[in-house]
Order: sequence, then structure tokens, then C-alpha cells
Amino acid sequence: MKKMKRMLHGGDYNPNQWEKEVWKEDMRIFKDAAINSATINVFSWAKIQPSEEVYYFDELDEIIEMLTKENYDIVLGTSTAALPAWMFKKYPEVGRVDFDGRQHRFGHRHNACPHSLVYQKYATRLVEKLAERYGDNPQLSIWHINNEYGGECYCEKCEKAFRVWLQNKYKTIEAVNKAWNLEFWGHTVYEWDEIVVPNALGDGMDANNSAFAGLSVDYRRFMSDSLLDNFKMEKAAIRKYDQETPITTNLMGTFKGLDYFKWAKEMDIVSWDNYPSYNTPWSKTAMTHDLMRGVKNRSFMLMEQTPSQQNWQPYNSLKKPGQMRAQSYQTIAHGADTIQYFQLRRSVGGCEKFHGAVIEHVGTENTRVFREVSQLGHEMQSLGDSLLEANNPAEVGIIFDWDNYWALEYTSGPNKDLSYVDQIHQYYQYFYERNIAVDMISVDADFSKYKVVVAPVLYMIKDQMAENLEAYVEKGGTFVTTFMSGIVDQSDNVLLGGYPGPLRKLTGVWAEEIDALAPEQKNNIQLASGQKGETFLLSDILHLETAESLGEYTSNFYKGCPVATKNHFGKGQAFYVGAQMDTDSLAEILDQVCYDGDVKKVVDEKTNLEITRRQKDGKDFYFILNFTTEDQKLPETFDGSTDLLKNERLSVETVLQPYDVVLVTK
Ligand code: GLA
Ligand code: ZN
Repeated sequence: MKKMKRMLHGGDYNPNQWEKEVWKEDMRIFKDAAINSATINVFSWAKIQPSEEVYYFDELDEIIEMLTKENYDIVLGTSTAALPAWMFKKYPEVGRVDFDGRQHRFGHRHNACPHSLVYQKYATRLVEKLAERYGDNPQLSIWHINNEYGGECYCEKCEKAFRVWLQNKYKTIEAVNKAWNLEFWGHTVYEWDEIVVPNALGDGMDANNSAFAGLSVDYRRFMSDSLLDNFKMEKAAIRKYDQETPITTNLMGTFKGLDYFKWAKEMDIVSWDNYPSYNTPWSKTAMTHDLMRGVKNRSFMLMEQTPSQQNWQPYNSLKKPGQMRAQSYQTIAHGADTIQYFQLRRSVGGCEKFHGAVIEHVGTENTRVFREVSQLGHEMQSLGDSLLEANNPAEVGIIFDWDNYWALEYTSGPNKDLSYVDQIHQYYQYFYERNIAVDMISVDADFSKYKVVVAPVLYMIKDQMAENLEAYVEKGGTFVTTFMSGIVDQSDNVLLGGYPGPLRKLTGVWAEEIDALAPEQKNNIQLASGQKGETFLLSDILHLETAESLGEYTSNFYKGCPVATKNHFGKGQAFYVGAQMDTDSLAEILDQVCYDGDVKKVVDEKTNLEITRRQKDGKDFYFILNFTTEDQKLPETFDGSTDLLKNERLSVETVLQPYDVVLVTK
């Protein structure tokens, strides 16, 4: 397989939307920004195949020729994410049926029915032609299949395929009845074709509510697999002609629809699109990068970010001076090998005309945005391949699991405000603020690599999980879990015998009841140190079995009951956080977790800077970023080192202004 030769700096490029004179101008201007890569042909199906039997490659040939001459790394799209009009006209079945049961017509994008044989046939044919024609171009660096896979289809073809998927999984109809507990509300089915898809016309209530969560979770698994089959189909079409070029598709971070751990196994390299809102915490963006590194456990590509603003959020703020650059270094710090923009030139029409780009509507390089892109490009150029595929060492693993995400958010009760990603983020944030490196890991990861494993709201326990966690702690690991853990099996049926079910022995507690608190309600607590705090959202009423209490409720009828616990288990310990705590209270518990687990900070000094380490060839690279709104002093550890980006010597006097970045090696 081809290796990436350099860090890519580029992005989505649509010369097909422009006259040829503009292409020349683009090449001149991009050079000024040290752009070395272009992602092309992402949405050109209608151009390449103007009708059922006609293919037209002249324009794409010219684009590729131009980029090849200019020594670009080409990221080649397969164009299958938006279908041509003729296909919808002749074969309306290629469109999806939505949650409300409406059959979609031509329009928009990302809306092919994954089980349409017509779609599959024409997509495969198109991709084979592309691979045959361009697969041996030495400038071709990455294949970019489709675009941002996602969404669901509830058509009859999908329904039939779902039944087959279920037959493979459950073998008998009795097993399906049992798995979804269909005796409830007398929903027992006797024939496979009595099973219907869980949209608004069936058991689905809305995107997050279902009369049978087990059924809806299975449908999500099925849809994720179905779209993944579409990806694999295109991959196979490419591999017929090109066995060398790595293949990706652009993921979307914590996007709910697809099980990215499963997807990453089929991708040669992970890429993703980072579009934080004006108020997204930097810790959340960092967590998402770590997740995108985690799904394949290696460095990734940043396929898209906007150089300045978006168009599709409610409030599309500009990135402030220095922000795009700082955000890009945060991306590299957490494991990226590329910085790519959407897009290189701003479109004149369509819903993205207000989306930022490297070249704005003014059409020149004389803009604030361009200058910042250019600075970053030249800095990346001077870094060469020193950081390419570098590692991100971490001692803490946080479990992220799409089955849990789906099941937890489908479940009816106890509190509608419970959000899976927010729960995970709150734990991540604790480590982020202390510059403790974290890996985002799957439920079946090798836990033994970590001093601490954190599994917030580990609602669904599958397969060998409880045993694996017990073995990990037994040998000396430190484990943290919380309320709403150990509750159900893979089909959303409760694991009987008292919460947290299979984690009861490991945590040494029994949660007898779970109280839900409305937004205006709270409980008071007092921790072992005497520190007073509050809890919200959910409160377990806990009994100590073998665990010891780390604090208790001081209000409500369960006052005096433990709110957090620690259980010695083998050579290690398991912590249980029984309620949604305020930040300081949670920090007190997690301080103890870090102490017991002997977790090291990247830099052992108190600082408000984000400091992240990547390692390559025995060298440590420290990315030091100021995401606060005030000036921050450089930690003493870096006194006397040199900033690789500006080639400046640093001292204790060095001050980082907001969005300043410093990169040093040790
Ligand atoms: C997504 C898509 C792009 C573009 C951008 C705009 O990430 O992949 O085609 O629409 O959003 O932000
Ligand atoms: Zn369908």
C-alpha cells in the first residue's frame, strides 16, 4: 500500500464549477498558501455520467492533469453521494423512504437507498471506471469514497433486507421475539414478513424514541452495516484496478448514525470533518479528534474544516484571527496527518455560497483568511514529515460505544435529558483540563494498556465485557463507571438481579432505585473530605456491598446513602459515581482515581494551556495552545526550548496570547 509522503494541506476543490481561466488563477494563488493537495470529484456524478449509457471524463482528465503537473497529492472522490437526475427519473426506487414513510424524489444528497440494486449497479460501474482510468496515477494519494455516509432508509427493499439481517443474527423467529421482548403489548410475530421497520408508521416514535428499543437498536445496527456494505462495495470496485492507494471516507466525529469502530476496520485510513460551533468547548473538539484517532488507533486525516465560517449552523461566526491556525494545530496535536479545508474556492450559488473558503468571493489572495491559511501552509511545509504518523501516548482510556449511545438514548425514562456524548465529554474534560492524555477506546479494547479505564453510563453490557473488566481490575487496573451502567444486555433487556447487573461484583454496590431530577431540582451531597456539592439529572440510591463510601447525599429521602464509592478488587479498584455531580465534586473523585492509578500529566505544572504530546522516532513533540481568552505564561519545563513554528527561543518570560501556538521537542 502507498504511504503518505508528506502532510497534506489542501481541501475540497471544485474547478468543475468554474471557467478554465479561474483554474489557472487557482493554481497561482494556492501556491502562495503552500497548498499541496486537492480533494476532487466529490459531487460530479451528473457530469461524468450525463445519461444512463454515456460517460464523459474529459473535464476530470484535465483537472487531474493540471494537478499532476503541479505536483499535488490528489484525494479522489468517487462522486456517489449525490445521484444524477436521470437516475431518479428512470428509477425512482433509488431514493430513500424517510422516517415518516415519504418516498423521496430527486434533490439534495446523501439519499440513495443502500439496498437499491440500481444504485449499487451504477455506483459500482462508475467507481470501476474511475479506478481503471486513474488508479495508476502516481499523484493519486487517497481514494475518498462517497461523502459523509449517514441517515436511514425505511423502504420495502430495506425492510426485506432487514429481515434477512435478522435471520442471520437470530436464526429463529422465537429468538427475535425473545430478544425484543415482543410479548410486551402483544407484539409477538410468527412469520419473518410480519416484522416491519421501526419508523413513524411502525414502532418508532421519533428519532430518539421507540416502543421497542431492542428493535430500533437493531435497525440502527442494520443501517450502519448496510451503508458500510455500500462502502465495501465501492472499495472492492477500486481494488479491482488499484491495490495500492489507501481508501477512506469522511466520518463525522460523534455522529450517532454509524458504528465507526466497525467502519474503521474496513478503512485504510480514517478521515473526518471537523465543524465545531461558535460555542463548542475546545475539550469537546479535542475529544472528538481523540475518538477519530481511537476508532482505528492510529493517526488520521482532517478531511474538512472551514477556514473561516460555515453556512449551515444557526450562527456562523467567523474564526477569530489565529483561531483557524490554533484549531489546526490542535487537530495535528491529537493525531492528524493532514489539514484540509472545505473548500478551496467559495461557490457562487447553492446553499453553501456563504461557506468560508481559502479563496473568498473577492477572488484574490488579499484576505485575512487567506493570509492565515498561507502562514499555516508554510509552517506545515517547514515541519516536513517530522510528525507524519506520530503516536499519541496515553495512560487513560475512555470507552465510547455506539450500541450504548443508541440504546441509552432510545430508552424511555428515567430522564429525557440524559445525553451519551455529554456524559462522556464530562469525564474527558476533567482529564483535558489537567493535560492528561486520553485514548478513546472501544468496549473490546485491550484494557491492559491503560492505568485507568473510564466507562461513563455503560448501560449495555455485551459479550465478555464484565469478565474482561473484572480481569483488568483484578490485575491492578483502575476502573470508573457511573449510574445507568450494567443495566441491559445487547437487546435492551434488563440484566436481572439488581443494578448494576454484571458490574455489581466489580463495583461492590447495589443500586436499588434510580431517581430522576428535573432541571429545577438538585440534591446536596458531602464528600469524604468534607467538600459539599450538588447532584442533578439522575441519582442512584446505593447500598454498599464490598465497596466503601466516598461521600453521601445530605438531602432528599435518601440522605445518608452513598453517592460515590470505591471497591478494592484483586490488585486494583473500581470506582462508581452514582449521580450527575457538579464539576468540583466529580473532580475530587477523579483526583483519587488518578492518584490510585498513578496517572501522569503531560506536563506536571498547573497551567491553563492545552498541552498535547505526540511521539515519533524517540522524540517528543509538545503542542502548547492557548484556548483561553487571556494571556498565559509558558510552563517552566519549556524554559530554554525553541518554538519550531517561529524558530524562536522560549523562556519563562514567554507569554502566549489567546490562540497562540508553540511547538517544541524534547
Ligand atoms: C460537509 C460536506 C461538505 C460540505 C461541508 C460544509 O462536511 O462533506 O460537502 O457540505 O459539510 O460545511
Ligand atoms: Zn431503502
